Amino acid sequence: MNTMQKQITVAQLDELSPGQRKLVFVDGQSVVLFNIDGTIHAIENSCPHSGASLASGKLEGSVLQCPAHGLQFDLSKPCDPGSSLCLRKFPVEATEDSVRLLVDPPAP
Ligand code: FES
Repeated sequence: MNTMQKQITVAQLDELSPGQRKLVFVDGQSVVLFNIDGTIHAIENSCPHSGASLASGKLEGSVLQCPAHGLQFDLSKPCDPGSSLCLRKFPVEATEDSVRLLVDPPAP
């Protein structure tokens, strides 16, 4: 975490068991949290293809399928540098009882 980032508690860990997801709003942004095999992932709730909500996308393993046109994104891997369709991911930290998002301050 850099010193300018804020930590925002977005969920209690017991409401996000493995396999579960949660939609939260942070600083005016819609963010979807996924617990995949005990690892928390946080992504912007907007498909990079055409902006559809990803909150109800089908998840198989770590691969999320956009409900609008079916593009698939592997949440456990960084975006392919050659791809123009990258999910926006947020750094996230799980403590023993809560999940926190690390958010950059707004640009001046
Ligand atoms: S909006 Fe997600 S695949 Fe088109």
